[in-house]
Amino acid sequence: MPDILDDILIRPLSDVMAAEVVGLDLREPIPADVMTRLETALNQYHVLCFRNQSLSKLEQIEATKQFGALDVHVQSNRSSDIPLIHIVTNLDENNQPRQTIAAKGSVHWHSDKSYRHAPSHATFLYALEVPEEGGETEFANMILAFEALPSARQQELAALKVVHSWPDSVRRTNKREATDEEKANWPPIAQPLARTHIGSGRKGLFLGQHASYIEGREADGRGLIDELEAWSTQQRFRYAHKWRVGDLLMWDNSCLIHRAAAFDGDRYRRLMHRTVTQGPVPR
Ligand SMILES: [Fe+2]
Repeated sequence: MPDILDDILIRPLSDVMAAEVVGLDLREPIPADVMTRLETALNQYHVLCFRNQSLSKLEQIEATKQFGALDVHVQSNRSSDIPLIHIVTNLDENNQPRQTIAAKGSVHWHSDKSYRHAPSHATFLYALEVPEEGGETEFANMILAFEALPSARQQELAALKVVHSWPDSVRRTNKREATDEEKANWPPIAQPLARTHIGSGRKGLFLGQHASYIEGREADGRGLIDELEAWSTQQRFRYAHKWRVGDLLMWDNSCLIHRAAAFDGDRYRRLMHRTVTQGPVPR
């Protein structure tokens, strides 16, 4: 059932997660009662799509701040003149689309900055140019995936910790060694494998590309992680967001993993601006 608050409509986009928010201009301050409704909706749907936005970079930063303290980007994009905005694109310095510079790391399932002691809470991705085909952002609902497991299995997994590691992630994904600075900033960090979602108290699996091994079972590598990731990314736990220009998508990294679907990067243009908010230490 759509939920109408004044002239703002919140409408589910699938049975698994995600709702669209229509009638809200994020350039304006969000009234307290609307913010309460949005927070409830985020806890329920985990992905909110604010339709028909028109935001400059600075306006996106101000809009993001209404939901929480901004997180700085660790790898500031070379083409962004404002470090708090990360540019996600396949466009080169001459503004031409190139398959070779489509964001490669994003094609793997991940939770943003899960390798940090306190990972990002919400990610905000604002679409300025979108491909006609492909380029969806896909999500998997880690709470539903966990709750669908037999209860004995849930208890077993809830006793485990998973080590997220930036150095291991870049070695596997980017085929390079982390720099000394990266190793010092983001050493491997043990987190609960079954993470408690603050907004609902429910547990969800905390996995993704940066997950390296189960604490105490380093020799097994990603064996169990890969098995649980395959389980969690079944179609019944998934939602794929088909982008429209003007969408600002906000999602909760604490209970989702996501990835970018492929598209023809030599033919189509994809340009998005990303901001993130700070999150708590997972429990
Ligand atoms: Fe991401």
